[in-house]
Amino acid sequence: MKITVVGAGAVGASCAEYIAIKNFASEVVLVDIKENFAEGKSMDLMQTASLNSFDTKIIGSTNDYSQTAGSHVAVITSGIPRKPGMTRDELIGINAGIVKQVAQKLIDYSPDVIFVIVSNPMDTMTYLTYKSLGLQKNRIIGMGGALDSARFKYRLSEAMNCPSSDVSAMVIGGHSDKGMVTLTSFATRNSIPVTEFLSADRLEQVKQDTKIGGATLTAMLGTSAWYAPGAAVSALVHSIVCDQNKMFPCSVILEGEYGLSDLAIGVPVILGKNGVKKVVEIKLSDKEINQLKESAQGVLSTNNILKEMNLI
Ligand code: 2OP
Repeated sequence: MKITVVGAGAVGASCAEYIAIKNFASEVVLVDIKENFAEGKSMDLMQTASLNSFDTKIIGSTNDYSQTAGSHVAVITSGIPRKPGMTRDELIGINAGIVKQVAQKLIDYSPDVIFVIVSNPMDTMTYLTYKSLGLQKNRIIGMGGALDSARFKYRLSEAMNCPSSDVSAMVIGGHSDKGMVTLTSFATRNSIPVTEFLSADRLEQVKQDTKIGGATLTAMLGTSAWYAPGAAVSALVHSIVCDQNKMFPCSVILEGEYGLSDLAIGVPVILGKNGVKKVVEIKLSDKEINQLKESAQGVLSTNNILKEMNLI
């Protein structure tokens, strides 16, 4: 199976690297607008193949989308990342136009492609891709919830002093510091509720640290994170390409699920070869439902900017 990753910056290159290392794709095409940049990253990554024992062929392309033809999945990381102190929403002015153009070029060469959107503001870029291409909603997936959930598991494991693999937990809602809904009521360590291990205060700290997970790293690194975003993307792409039926919280188009419509926001979904197989509706507490609705209001108001920009 062929996978395209657009944007060969740190996030895009990390997506390509993790996809290749997992060895489930025959080919990864890395595209960038900067002359020879994707080709250079691809060559560097290919020189790790014998060391990391993968057979995936990674090819770089300077803006030549004909090389992406026939992709099963396309990952869009294009645009600019956050700088310290910025919110993800502040990137819309630059990123929306870029994402719309890139999505159109990808579909021109791969009419059946499934999109995984990473560019921020991620929920709004997912909605933009859906609205501008008019595709079936199962083919457009925003990556945020998978990343936020991995960060939640990391913080929970740190607090409980156990490996992340012991932890099961999800973050739903918008991929923004204010919009994330950390589902502590569903979080467990080997099926035992995390409330058995953590005090209410410690759990509250975990929730807050999770929500500012991206901002914390942006302040430390001077730009947005890339390893966990790349790993999250590779897990989603793996489930799609290998029809694994795994469940992840992802930003998907809702039509009434959770009482929400006409937006993309993070909820649990099953991912298989055609993209979103099912939106899983879990029974949330009144408090969690209210948090999700509030988060949706935030996403909807960012989506409105797309109309002001005449992009949808
Ligand atoms: C993050 O690190 C890339 O939005 C992204 O949260």
